[in-house]
Formats: sequence, C-alpha cells, structure tokens
Amino acid sequence: MKENVKALFQPIRVGGIELKNRIVMPPMDTCAFNFDGTVTPKLMPYMRNRAKGGAGLIIQECADTSWPEGKNGPRELRMDVPDSITFLHDMTNVVHSFGTKIILQLNHAGFQSNPVNCEGRQSVCPSDFNGARAMTHEEVLKVIQDFIVCAYNAKLAGYDGVELHAAHGYLLNCFLNPAINKREDEFGGVIENRFRMVGEIIKGIREKCGYPFLISVRLGSVDNPGNTLEESVEIAYMCEQAGADMVNMSSGFNPPMDTNPTQWAQEGLYIPFSEAVKKKVSIPVAIVGKLKTPEFCADVIKNGSADLVCVGRQLLCDPEWPNKIMQDRINEIRPCLSCFDGCMGALLTRNEITRCSINPYVGFEDFQSENNVPKTAEPKTVLVVGGGISGMQFAIISARRGNRVILAEKEDHLGGQMLLAGLTPHKEAVLKALKWFEEECIRRGVEIRLNQNVDLDYVNTVKPDQVVLAAGAVFAMPPIEGIENAVNGADVIARKIETKPGQNVVVIGGGVAGAELAHRIVLEGGKAAVLEMLPEICRGGELFHTMLLKDYLEKNATVLTSVAVKKINPDSVEYEDADHVRHTIPADLTAVCAGQKKMGLGLYDQLLEAGYEAYRIGNNERAANFLNATRSAFELAYTI
Ligand SMILES: Cc1cc2nc3c(=O)[nH]c(=O)nc-3n(C[C@H](O)[C@H](O)[C@H](O)COP(=O)(O)OP(=O)(O)OC[C@H]3O[C@@H](n4cnc5c(N)ncnc54)[C@H](O)[C@@H]3O)c2cc1C
Ligand SMILES: Cc1cc2nc3c(=O)[nH]c(=O)nc-3n(C[C@H](O)[C@H](O)[C@H](O)COP(=O)(O)O)c2cc1C
Ligand code: SF4
Repeated sequence: MKENVKALFQPIRVGGIELKNRIVMPPMDTCAFNFDGTVTPKLMPYMRNRAKGGAGLIIQECADTSWPEGKNGPRELRMDVPDSITFLHDMTNVVHSFGTKIILQLNHAGFQSNPVNCEGRQSVCPSDFNGARAMTHEEVLKVIQDFIVCAYNAKLAGYDGVELHAAHGYLLNCFLNPAINKREDEFGGVIENRFRMVGEIIKGIREKCGYPFLISVRLGSVDNPGNTLEESVEIAYMCEQAGADMVNMSSGFNPPMDTNPTQWAQEGLYIPFSEAVKKKVSIPVAIVGKLKTPEFCADVIKNGSADLVCVGRQLLCDPEWPNKIMQDRINEIRPCLSCFDGCMGALLTRNEITRCSINPYVGFEDFQSENNVPKTAEPKTVLVVGGGISGMQFAIISARRGNRVILAEKEDHLGGQMLLAGLTPHKEAVLKALKWFEEECIRRGVEIRLNQNVDLDYVNTVKPDQVVLAAGAVFAMPPIEGIENAVNGADVIARKIETKPGQNVVVIGGGVAGAELAHRIVLEGGKAAVLEMLPEICRGGELFHTMLLKDYLEKNATVLTSVAVKKINPDSVEYEDADHVRHTIPADLTAVCAGQKKMGLGLYDQLLEAGYEAYRIGNNERAANFLNATRSAFELAYTI
C-alpha cells in the first residue's frame, strides 16, 4: 500500500465498536425488497460483495420505522415487525465474516412519503407543510417508540447498530428544522425542543439495546430552508450528549437533487461541514459527497477534516475500491461517473433493483459475481465488431469465460460514442471510465485490432465461432433542404471541427448530445441556438443532469422547441414555429445532432445468410445509453 493512502486504513473505535478502516459505505436504496417490506434474496449477494470489497462499515439503506405512513418508496425494508429478521441475521453474519461492520439506517419519510406507497394515508410532519398534516402529540410519542422497536429488531438481526436518518428533509430532519417545525409543544420552538425527538430516540435505543450498540445520526449540515451550519454543529453536539456514538454529516433538505452531488459538483464539496462539527464534538464524524479519489479521501482523514469517509456511488460502481487501494491496484478501480443513471434512476424512474451504468453486475449479484466468472465448457473464437462500451464490456466478460476474443474497431482508438460523451462539459469521468474499459480489455487478454473495418470478407478470414455486432450507431444527416451547408454534430463534439469564440452556432436537435454540445460552445465563448422539434430538450437524459443542462441553456443560449427546420443556408437556418410562422436565425456554423443511424445492419444480414451465429448489442440493438450497452453485453456474454 502506498504511503499517501495509509490513513484510510487506520482502525478506529466508534463507541464500543472497532472498525478496521475509515471507509464507510453510506446508505443507498437498493429496492431489494418486496412491496410488503420483506427482504428479497437479492440483498445478500449485493451486501456480500460490498463487504468482501473491504469497506470498514456498511450503513444499510433506510428501513421504514412506521409502516406504512413512514415509507419513503414503494420497495423499502419494514423493520417494525420481525418478518425479515431471520434472513437479515444470515446476511449480517456474511458481512461480519469479512471483518466488516454493518448498521441499519432507520427512517420515517415524513412529508416526503407518498400516499400512493402508504395505503393512501396523508403524509405527516411536525407542522402542516407541503400537503402533510401536523402530527398529534400521541403520534410523536408513537414514532419515538417505533424507532426504538426497529432498533431492537435490528439488534436481533445481528446489526452492529443503527443510524437515525435526521437529514434530507425526512421526518427527524423536519423536527430539527425551525423553518418547518412550528409546534408549540415540547417538540417545537427552541433548539432543545426541536432536538427532543432525536434525543429521546437515542436515549431509548441505548436503554433498550445497550452498549456497544452503535448509534449514528445522519445530519443535514445546511438545510435550505432551515438550520444553518452553526445550528447543525450545535445539534451534532446534542447528539453526542444524548449518547450517540457518531455523527454522519450530509447536506441538503430536498432529496434527491439537493442531497446527491451531480456530475457538476466538485469532489468533497461538503468537507467544510465535517470540519466545523469536528471542532465541537469528540465522537467520530463521517463525511460524504462525491468522495472517490483514494489520495483525496486519505487526505480528508490525514488532515483531520473527518474521521470517516462515506464513499457512496463509487462503492456501488466498484465494491473492490478499498481492496484495490490496499493492494496498490488503484489504476484498476472502475471510476464512478456520478451520473445517477443506473443507481438513482433505478429508484426514481424505474422502481427496480439498483443498477450501475458502467458496472452491469450491480443488482444482479445473485445471477453472477464479478469476483468469480465461470469458465465456459467449450471455449470459442468470438469476433466482436466495434470497440465502443458495449463491445468492450462484452469482450471483457467473454475473455474471462475462457474464449478467444478478437475486438475489431475501424477507428484508430477504442471508445465509440463514449469518447464523444467524455468531451462534453462535466463529463471528464467518462474519459476515465473509457481508460478503465480499455485497460481491462488488455488485462483480460482481449486481442484488440484497431483500424480494422469488419466486413464479410474479414469475418471469413477470421472464421469465428460467433460474431457480436457492437457497431453502434452514428449521427444521421436528415434530408433537409441545404443539409450540405451543415456539419455532423459528432465531428464538432469530437473537435474534428472547431468552434470559435463569438461564433453563432445553430445546433439542430436538442437531445442530450445536442444540448451538451450547445453547453460546451457557450462555455467556450460561442453563441449557441438549439432547435428542437419536440416540446422540450434533453428528452430521455438522466434526470439531474438534464435539469441542470436545461436551466443553463435557458439562461445562456437560445432554446427553440416545437420548431421544424425547413432550410439550411450557408449563413443562416430557416425554421417554422408551432404556428407555422417562418423565421430565420443567423448561423456561422450549423451542427446536426438529430437522430442516429445504426451501423452494420447489412453486415448482420450477410452474416446470418452465410450461416454465422451472430448477435447485436448496445446501440446497435437499441440506441440508448451506457446502462443499456453494458447490460446487453453482460447478458449476452453469460448466455452464449
Ligand atoms: C455527446 C454524447 C453524450 C452522451 N452521454 C451519455 C451519458 O452521459 N451517459 C450515457 O449513459 N450515455 C451517453 N451517451 C450515449 C452513449 O455514449 C452510447 O449509448 C454508448 O456509448 C453506445 O455504445 P456502443 O458500444 O453500443 O456503440 P458505439 O459507442 O457507437 O460503438 C460502436 C463502435 O463500433 C465501431 N464500428 C462500427 N462499424 C464497424 C465495423 N464495420 N468494423 C469495425 N468497427 C466498427 C465504431 O467505430 C464504434 O467505435 C452519449 C452519447 C453522445 C453522443
Ligand atoms: C441510489 C441512492 C440511494 C440513496 N439512498 C439513501 C438512503 O436510503 N439514505 C440516505 O441517507 N441517503 C441515501 N442516499 C444518499 C447517499 O447516502 C450519499 O449521501 C450520496 O450518494 C452522496 O454520496 P456519493 O457522492 O459518495 O455517492 C442515496 C444515494 C443514492 C445514489
Ligand atoms: S450509475 Fe453512475 S453514479 Fe450510479 S454508481 Fe454507476 S456510475 Fe456511479
């Protein structure tokens, strides 16, 4: 292990529990639960992999304390009844066998619980707020008991402790928050009263579960609206006084956007919060927030900015992050994109098991483990056509299964559209991930053949047993009058055609690629206009990135939606608005990002006709994103 990361691997005592290192996996919903709140078998292998990966402490995602009105989402663990205790006990045993400790986060979602998930019940809050009704005094006392009962059930299930979720705008956070909590009883008013509920829960859990049962409290350092950092520091101190063993500093009041740093945020953005808290409390302080670079995280510990680093999505993306650091294999870490597409997207838009855009094993650990790839009974020669992310992902698994894999790419480099994605603003991590895929291909013995266009003659020369068409798709040039006056947007994104400061650039097509290109043009001093035929731009893009992108472009570029481009002139573009009124907009350069055309479909037909076993994956099968590309590659690589 390198000297500059050693700080991460110092053991630490939290309350009465010894952690083997400073690396914490913070709570992240998996959706690995049934609608009735019982656990599914998916949780066990998911947790086994995270424990095996070397984290010192896992904080399991929020379980609901008060069923059903406290539910945050439709598929959440129910802890007020013992239904899942036996299974969970087996799971905590597995986690412990790797020397990792595990605590369970307990939560009541408060005003954020959705009546749809809660048998139609109105959500509750300390005071009337945002459609939620104020809780009665009896209800407050009942919820305090609910937390204590759930903590006891967690203890029975073998957890080393619990974390109270008092951040992100959920119920406990709302009690702490003076902007929301307007109660006039002993649970509202001055900070001591607003803290009373959390304090009573801490004391009740300690009494019921004894010592050393770890009690952590997750706090929102700066609530907007609500507590300032100074008030949160005071609350952290009150947690310590009430008997908590650690505080876990997060931020933001409105999840998910406020509380989860996007691709646009910088690494370690919340560190000033733990630094402030550490000046006041003597119990260990954890910090979160896009922490993923090993040396950076080690410095957080070395500098005393926090005692523990919560590494969230990076541990989803690569559970072996701690082991790889310890074993001096930092270059082998699969770098998280901070994109949310797979993980948060799974919850928010698809209500399915958590996934990862660039790690297809996530959520499917019950099907296959990346740690143990089974060899195929009959090794074959497999020709992969195209070195984009889908081709590389397929090649990596197929080679690990013992096949001879030839990856042929017509360009002089690998990457395909992944390279374009990495050349747009705030997406530098995509280039790091591309490097990882390239190097992983080499590590796994894939034969890479660059500058190799594949046609039927070439396939006949190689004589593979199987051909996998991962040839992707390219930006199409639609049949608009004057299209010869425009350039392909992909060439502009790839910087084969440069834009200049002050230039008027019209981007035809406001999908994610077009919008990102416009963003880059503006950042580099150009003037961008985005023309989109649909009523909105960025359709189909990841939720948070899209929101930020739309907002940026609306303020800094010309965005024209529901328009039809009619003619492209050498120095202007003519379009019709929704009322069929014709307009002309100046254009020093017109870049087309309007739709994609699949590559190699003719080759596919020829292959089938010639009797080859041929398959299509990634954009070649369905133009979508990294998630689709890696998943389709994964499924195929394990089934042929
Ligand atoms: C600007 C931009 C930003 C994006 N941002 C994101 C994002 O943030 N998140 C996300 O999930 N997705 C994003 N996408 C989409 C994502 O990049 C694609 O879905 C994904 O990269 C497709 O991968 P693929 O391997 O299927 O195809 P491709 O990347 O297109 O790869 C196909 C490869 O095959 C090669 N090839 C084609 N024909 C032949 C042949 N006959 N012989 C040899 N080689 C051949 C091509 O040269 C190419 O390298 C973005 C796309 C763009 C354009
Ligand atoms: C998919 C997903 C689910 C999450 N679920 C929870 C949760 O149950 N409880 C919680 O306190 N935070 C939750 N979070 C927030 C994370 O704990 C963490 O604060 C956030 O991901 C930022 O850390 P990172 O940048 O290291 O990923 C979730 C985050 C993600 C991405
Ligand atoms: S989906 Fe994106 S943000 Fe989530 S873990 Fe994977 S790479 Fe990271």
